[in-house]
Formats: sequence, structure tokens, C-alpha cells
Amino acid sequence: MAYIVVTTRAPFSHERSSGKETVRFSTGGVSTSLRMIVGREGGTWVCWGDGSNDRAYPEEIKDNVRIVRVFIGSRERRGFYEGYSNSTLWPLFHYFRDRLKFSRKNFLTYRKVNQDFLEAIKKVYRPGDTVWIHDYQLALLPGLVRKEFPDAGIIFTWHIPWVTGEFFSMLPESEEILRSICSSSFVTFHTGLYVRNFFDSMDQILGSHDSMKGRAFSIPLGIDYAYYQKKSEGIHKSPFAGDQKAIFSVDRMDYTKGLTERANAIETLLETHPELIGKFVYYMAVSPSRTNVKEYQTFKRDLEMSIGRINGRFSSVSWVPIVYMNKKLSDNLLIAFYRFSQVALITPLFDGLNLVSKEFIASSRDGVLIISKFAGSASQLNGAIKVNPNSRLELAESIHSALNMGAEERRVRLEMMKKEVSRHDSAWWSRRIRDLARKISFPEGGRVVEQH
Ligand code: F6P
Repeated sequence: MAYIVVTTRAPFSHERSSGKETVRFSTGGVSTSLRMIVGREGGTWVCWGDGSNDRAYPEEIKDNVRIVRVFIGSRERRGFYEGYSNSTLWPLFHYFRDRLKFSRKNFLTYRKVNQDFLEAIKKVYRPGDTVWIHDYQLALLPGLVRKEFPDAGIIFTWHIPWVTGEFFSMLPESEEILRSICSSSFVTFHTGLYVRNFFDSMDQILGSHDSMKGRAFSIPLGIDYAYYQKKSEGIHKSPFAGDQKAIFSVDRMDYTKGLTERANAIETLLETHPELIGKFVYYMAVSPSRTNVKEYQTFKRDLEMSIGRINGRFSSVSWVPIVYMNKKLSDNLLIAFYRFSQVALITPLFDGLNLVSKEFIASSRDGVLIISKFAGSASQLNGAIKVNPNSRLELAESIHSALNMGAEERRVRLEMMKKEVSRHDSAWWSRRIRDLARKISFPEGGRVVEQH
């Protein structure tokens, strides 16, 4: 069984500036982990060619993978990517009612781009292939592929949260999207809660979820644990300058990540525990993301104002509480940060899973993880301090406890999480999905058959 993996984000793109060609690797968790999995398993990867020099590489073979690029014009990009994907579906599925934009025009462009992806699949599909579609940008694609290839094995993996039926039904196109997803052979989410919410959406919109019973699964994506473990063990020098304790976080620049709330919690911590002034540094790495979306521009400005205000209030000649890095860190530096930080502060307001928390666990020597209870990975990481990111005080107190936690407690908690993250790694994830793909097919007539 060969896969045709389909994502919007490419594993990497080709850039050209001042006559120089470079390769840029994507930052999101989905393409980063799939890059390793598809590289291991082989197959074809259909993705968006959004690099400035990608048109020179419509197809290429790289490390065992055939990459096929779909090109989207700049007007379509606005309706599809900045518009429906990231100004409608993204805020909807993270419960951001106030940021939601409804636009029929954007939806029609979204449908058109999903059709463009179908055209690319049609060129490479061979009977027997399994089409593995990923995430909210391509939610209409399972339905389109099913129509074209009634016998195809189609897997749909949803990487962000799935909201309650009531919230989802606010979307004018909720039924079309739901019906498309339900035409997959099976669907995977990252937590049981998202599966339950998906069923709830079916109950509310389609009247029942019976047709998806036994075809919707919670299979949380894992990381390449061995890679992080080996790489981190090879790093012997701390990247931090002073002898203060290091708190670290790394995220995409996104309003769902709880970045301003975190900065504010640092302020509360310094107000309520002034003895900590000068005793720690919070290293906040934030990689640029969706920079053409207005909401993201405003969010970045507001975050930077908060950081500036807090640093202005507490800094001295020899100390700054928040070191803010608005860039993508190199892999080596990132893993060094993971390895030598005393505390990782991963507190999104909502997050489908959050692979950073797992990368930290795999790389850390003796760190403490503080995780939002609204991150999908929190349900797997029982050794972490779980927090409600909406409470400044709770967040501040959790940082205080983490900084003061004894060595033995740190060790026990970390060991427990290392076991969990290494057991359920990316190889486990892809194996589970491959096993299901072998068992569940969707033959002619659209009847689901479990093959034993
Ligand atoms: O993990 C969720 C996700 O939305 C991916 O689907 C996406 O590729 C990634 O985050 C980064 O976002 P973007 O593709 O918009 O840069």
C-alpha cells in the first residue's frame, strides 16, 4: 500500500532572493513530523508550492519521497489561506468567536483550491494507493477524492481541536465540510475529546453519528523521540549566559498560543515574588507565522508592547526578565534550549496537540514542564504541572513551584513523561494508522468494510 500524503504546508520550499537559491524548511508541527515519517515510509507528497522559486520545482524526488507541488495564484491565496483557512476555520476551531470572519467568497475560493489539490492527486493516483489528507485547510478534499475514486482508501487526519457541535454549527458551510470528512475511510484526531465533539457535531448537523462509529479514532501524533534524545545528549554546552534559572518557550506567532498571557504572568510573578527579581530569565522564542493576516499583525504588535512594558518595568543594568526572539531557531539551538532550561512554559489557550511539549520532554535533562490543560498533549503528559492559562495568578504560581521543585520530584515526573513520549512516538503513530488503513477500506458503493 503506497501513500499519497496531502498537506498544504510543504516539507520544504525553494526560495530565491538576490539571485541566490536557498531551501526553507517549514515551521509547523505537522509538516516537520510528517517530513520524518514520509521520509521513512516513502510515497508521494502533494503540497502547496508557495516558495518564491518553487515553480522551478513542480516535481522532485527527495529522500525517498516524490514531491508534487500545487500552485495557487496570489488572489486565490488570500481567499484560501489568509481568508477561509486562517480567518474562519482557524479561529472557529480554537473557540475564538470574536476573531471569526464569515465570507462566502472566501469559501468558494477555498473550495476551488481544494479542487486544485484533487487535480494534482488525479495525476499521481494509482489503484491501491491510500490518499492521506491532513488538516483544516483541506477539509473538502476527502469528499472530492471520494467522488473521483469511489474505491480509494482515504485517511483524513485532523491536527487542530474539534469544537462542540453547537460552536461548529455556527459555520454556514458546516454541513458540506462534515459530509466531506465523513466520506473518508476513517478519520483520526489527537484526543478523545475531539472525537466526542466530532460525533456531537454529526448528531447536531446530520442527526446521527452512527455512520462514523468505528471510523473515527483518537491517535495522538508523536515525535521522533530517538532523534531528540540522541541530539540533545550530544550537546554539552548550555546556550545560556548567566547563572540564572532559564524558563523557555517556543511557538509560532499566533493568538491561540497564550503568549501575552504568559508575559503577563511573568509580571504577576515578579510582583508577588519580588525575591525572584534577577534570579531567572524567560527566553521566549516566537517564529513568524501568517504575517499577511491582519489579526496576526495586530497580535504581534500587542504582544511586543506587553513584553516591552514588563521589561521596562523590571529590567536593570545587568538583568532583563524576558528575552524575546522573533525568529525561527536553528535545530541545534532549539534542542540546546530544551536540554538546559529548568522550566518549559507551554501554555496555549487552545492547541490541537503541541509537539513542542514532547520535544522538550525527550531532550530535557531535569526540567519541569508547565502545560496548559487546553493543549491536546496535556492528556498524555501527567508528570507536567497543568494550568489554566487564563489565570495570571495560577500561571505565576505554577512558575514559582516549578522554579522551586526539588530534584527528586523533577526526576520522577520527567521519567514518567519520557516513558510515555518514547512509547507513543512518531513511529508508533504511523504504525497505528497504517494498521487501520489495512483493516478499513471503503469499496465500491460506499459501504465500509472492516477486513480481518
Ligand atoms: O498544527 C496545525 C497547523 O495549522 C498546520 O496545519 C500548519 O501547517 C501549521 O500549524 C503552521 O501553520 P501554517 O501552515 O499556516 O504556517
